[in-house]
Amino acid sequence: MKKVYIYKGFERFWHWTQAALIIFLALTGFEVHGSFSILGFEQAARYHRAASWMLIVLIIFAIFWHFVTGEWKQYIPTSKKLKEQIMFYAFGMFKGQKHPTKKSGLTKLNPLQRLVYLGFKLFLVPVTVISGILYMVHKTVDKNDTVVISNIPLEGIAFWHTLGAFLLMVFLVVHVYMTTTGHTPTSNIQAMITGYEELEEDDEETTSEKEINKIDNNEKNT
Ligand code: HEM
Repeated sequence: MKKVYIYKGFERFWHWTQAALIIFLALTGFEVHGSFSILGFEQAARYHRAASWMLIVLIIFAIFWHFVTGEWKQYIPTSKKLKEQIMFYAFGMFKGQKHPTKKSGLTKLNPLQRLVYLGFKLFLVPVTVISGILYMVHKTVDKNDTVVISNIPLEGIAFWHTLGAFLLMVFLVVHVYMTTTGHTPTSNIQAMITGYEELEEDDEETTSEKEINKIDNNEKNT
């Protein structure tokens, strides 16, 4: 086994802050929805709006980080070994089979994770955030103290926002379960805390190592 640096500092900060904000938004949001009462409607709505601004700022920083570092490329979907990865999660891992794909700093996501996280970033989060912003600006007071109500029906906005919230909760449950399917049940979580993960040493040079070595050699030659 060797220790490999997988998740960078900002990435870990962004991941845990996003997780905490989404859980907090779910708790306050479902209270606004009327599912239970802890803080009271007014207080829950106020906290929900405050946390939603924090999430919007975090998402703006995260988008910037993904483009500046080139990390967005890790999410380009691929069908290569996708079937093997699905079969591994469905059957292989229960029979003690080895992971069909190798993890490294340059390939931190397997083909199924690439698809799921891309859907999370391009559909699930935007649907929830955009409907949330529309919810927020739906009824505003202009400078003449007149209440302005947007033309978009509130039922439609509430439907998409609540659907997004439910799907985020489904994602959260499946996601937490999937984190336990690494080399040990806690190895993936530890990696997201420390940045480092214990991975099996491979005699063969992996594709990503080849890429790194190629870059190193080019740098030495210039
Ligand atoms: C930037 C992101 C978000 C924004 C701007 C936002 C905004 C809002 C607003 C304005 C409301 C109406 C209550 C109020 O007036 O305060 C609301 C309701 C709600 N929010 Fe959010 N929210 C966001 C993210 C989330 C997330 C991540 C979840 C859950 C995971 C969530 C769950 C809910 C739920 C369940 C309701 C009640 C919907 C209903 O019953 O109509 N929200 N949100």
